[in-house]
This record gives sequence, structure tokens and C-alpha cells, in this order.
Amino acid sequence: MAEYICLLNKQDTIVIKPAKKTPILLRMIVLMFAMVCGVYICSVCLKQTSIHSKIKFQDIQVVERLSPDDDHGNLQISSVHYPNPETFSRAECAHNPVRYFAILSMQRSGSGWFETLLNSHVNVSSNGEIFSVLDRRINISSITQTLDKVYNLDWFTSASKNECSAAVGFKWMLNQGVMQHHKEISDYFNRRGVFAIFLFRRNLLRRMVSVLANSYDRHAKLLNGTHKSHVHSTEEAKTLAKYKPIINSTLLISDLKEVEITAAKALEYFNSTRHIVLYYEDLIKNPAKLKDVQAFLGLPLMELMSRQVKIHKGPLSDHVKNWEDVNKTLNGTAYESFLQADY
Ligand SMILES: *[C@@H]1O[C@H](CO)[C@@H](O)[C@H](O)[C@H]1NC(C)=O
Ligand SMILES: *[C@@H]1O[C@H](CO)[C@@H](O)[C@H](O)[C@H]1NC(C)=O
Ligand SMILES: *[C@@H]1O[C@H](CO)[C@@H](O)[C@H](O)[C@H]1NC(C)=O
Ligand SMILES: *[C@@H]1O[C@H](CO)[C@@H](O)[C@H](O)[C@H]1NC(C)=O
Ligand SMILES: *[C@@H]1O[C@H](CO)[C@@H](O)[C@H](O)[C@H]1NC(C)=O
Ligand SMILES: *[C@@H]1O[C@H](CO)[C@@H](O)[C@H](O)[C@H]1NC(C)=O
Ligand SMILES: *[C@@H]1O[C@H](CO)[C@@H](O)[C@H](O)[C@H]1NC(C)=O
Repeated sequence: MAEYICLLNKQDTIVIKPAKKTPILLRMIVLMFAMVCGVYICSVCLKQTSIHSKIKFQDIQVVERLSPDDDHGNLQISSVHYPNPETFSRAECAHNPVRYFAILSMQRSGSGWFETLLNSHVNVSSNGEIFSVLDRRINISSITQTLDKVYNLDWFTSASKNECSAAVGFKWMLNQGVMQHHKEISDYFNRRGVFAIFLFRRNLLRRMVSVLANSYDRHAKLLNGTHKSHVHSTEEAKTLAKYKPIINSTLLISDLKEVEITAAKALEYFNSTRHIVLYYEDLIKNPAKLKDVQAFLGLPLMELMSRQVKIHKGPLSDHVKNWEDVNKTLNGTAYESFLQADY
């Protein structure tokens, strides 16, 4: 024990103790023992945390990323492409590589906002919700045809900036054929090297309020007789937020569960593709996460911007008519935290 203290307090020992022959060897042994113990404990900790993070869906943080270089048995598929569009010439950018992506999300989860952010990048061309048109997803061959056209840069929307695009894609809601044809679609993604960007919302109760309010506005048209799903001014946001939906508390828990399961299933279906998982709340709280997205897509780093304004701000209790009811229903359940969270 005395020797142990010596280690910490060298100067004293030199003065006080004319050390005997034992010290050097003993010290070395003690030191080695401590090091081995330390390494062992660290490795056990690491192992446990990594197992833990694999298991829990809720714990997946912003980046559960399979980097473009990861080996998934599809190394032979290149992640960069040199498309040769039929409708125009890529001119001086013909030699710039292009990456393919798809934003896989659900309605009212921030994907509209996220897409405007991406499109503010000079080299990104994200073509909007192209599969909202039923004809394009009526069967897998029309889906494939549409995808081929998008990734060949031959799809034209107001968002497309085709000549010098370094990443081309679109946003795709899970209920627009993604879940139904998941097998063929994930095969396509792997075959053609399409990167999947999952965007989910953590607070599914807030999402539900947004879904209900948006579907009410489809008929009510609160903004001078027009319906808007996204707004660009605080006045418009305030007007839309005036409507407080009533949430059917009988179905609340099962509805929330269903959304959660859909997201988990989608992740499982596409787990062999190159993908990244994002949460709306994390992007709001930490805009630096957008750098991860740009890195994932191999883009030159830029400041991304959106003019969209959030509609339902502040405590959720201000936005639900039968709040007490909802509070009581979720109190003590796994979804209790949804009552408080800010975004
Ligand atoms: C898919 O739908 C298109 C358009 O409705 C149709 O022309 C085509 O025959 C269908 N293909 C298959 C394989 O069912
Ligand atoms: C991005 O776009 C700019 C402007 O069109 C172009 O000069 C540049 O080469 C593009 N970068 C990449 C990586 O494609
Ligand atoms: C609605 O009409 C009012 C009054 O005419 C006007 O001030 C406001 O800007 C309009 N809002 C929209 C969204 O057009
Ligand atoms: C809630 O949904 C259930 C099942 O669809 C229905 O029976 C019930 O009337 C609804 N409650 C309200 C308040 O709308
Ligand atoms: C993907 O999910 C399937 C089904 O759950 C599983 O068998 C497979 O191991 C998973 N693959 C990866 C790469 O996680
Ligand atoms: C919420 O649950 C706690 C116990 O879990 C209970 O004491 C409290 O009264 C409940 N609140 C409401 C509003 O039901
Ligand atoms: C839910 O109800 C309880 C009891 O009335 C209250 O203390 C609590 O603040 C409420 N929670 C929210 C988020 O409003």
C-alpha cells in the first residue's frame, strides 16, 4: 500500500523513505494490472452500449448511418453515377458525379421543410412528392419507370437544377407504395445505388395534431379561401393554428402505435440499403445535423436555408380542444412524454 502512495507523491517518498529493492518490479506489476483492468472494463462498456443501441428503435439517434463505403455485399454497385439525360446536355458538368437519393417519410413529419432545405443547395435536385400521383405507383413497373426517369435527370419540376446536380432525388411517403412494394423497391435501391434518407418525427402526438389540422384546412381553407400545407409567414401560421382539433382518445394509443410500427417496419425492410435515419426534432434542435446529410450525399458543404414557418408552436395543450382527455389517456403510458415535448 505504501508503494502505491509513493506513485502519487514522488517527491515526499524520496525524502521520507529510502526505498528498498522491491519497488520497481512491484510498481510495474501494479501498473500493468491497473492497465489491463482498465482496458477490460472499457471494452465491456463499449460492447454493452453497442448492443443496447442496436436493440431499441427509440434510441436510434440522428445518424444510424451505413456509410457509403460500408460492405453490404453490394460493393460492386457504385454509389456515384454519370447520367446521360435524354432531354438536355449536362454540358460542362458531365464529368461531375451524381448520387441518387430518396427521402422516405410520412405526412406531417417535416419532410416538406427538409426538402426545401436540401433544395437550397446549389447541387441538389429534389423533385418533390412525385408519387402522390396514383398513376405513377399503380404497379411496380410504373414505379420503376418513374424512378428511372428521375435518376436519369429527365424529370422536370420547379425544384430541378439539372446540369450541375451532384445529388438527385425526391420525397416519398411510406403510404405511397413504399410499404406495399418494399421488396422490389429496396432491390432497385441496391441495384442502382440509391441512398435512402429516412425522416421521422419523434413526437407522434404533435404529428397527429398537424395531420388533423391539415386535413381540416383542406375543406375549411382558412387562408383567404386557399388551402396551404406549408406557410411562409407567422401571420399565416397563426391563422392556421387557431383551429384546435379534437383527438379521438379511444383510438389514440392504437393510432400512435400503428405509426410507430410502420416506421420500424420501413427501417427493417430497407436495412440492406445505404441509409441514414433523421428525426425532425433533432434537425430543429441541432441544425449542424444537416452537415451529416450533406456528407452522406457527398455534397460540398453549404449553409442550407428554408423560408417555411412552423405552424403549431408552443405547448401542445394550446392546440388540442379536448386536451384533458388526451392528457388522461396518455398519462402513465409509453407515450406520456409526447404530452410535454416542445416540437
Ligand atoms: C402497370 O400499369 C400500367 C398503367 O396502368 C399498365 O399500362 C401496365 O400494363 C401495368 N403493368 C403491369 C405489369 O401490370
Ligand atoms: C455545383 O454547382 C455549381 C454551379 O452550378 C457547379 O459549378 C459545380 O461544379 C457543382 N458541383 C458539383 C460537385 O457538382
Ligand atoms: C388575406 O386577406 C387579407 C385582407 O384582405 C390580407 O391582408 C392578407 O394578406 C390575405 N392573406 C393571404 C394569405 O392572402
Ligand atoms: C372514436 O372512434 C371510435 C371508433 O371508430 C368511435 O366509435 C367513436 O365514436 C369515436 N369517438 C369520437 C368522440 O368521435
Ligand atoms: C435486416 O432485417 C432482416 C429481417 O429482420 C434480418 O434478417 C437481417 O439480418 C437484417 N439485415 C441487416 C443488415 O441488418
Ligand atoms: C397521472 O398518473 C399519475 C400516476 O401515474 C396519477 O397520480 C395522476 O393523477 C394522473 N393524472 C391524471 C390527470 O390522470
Ligand atoms: C396533465 O394533467 C395533470 C393533472 O391535471 C397536470 O398536472 C399536468 O400538468 C397535465 N399535463 C400537461 C402536459 O398538461
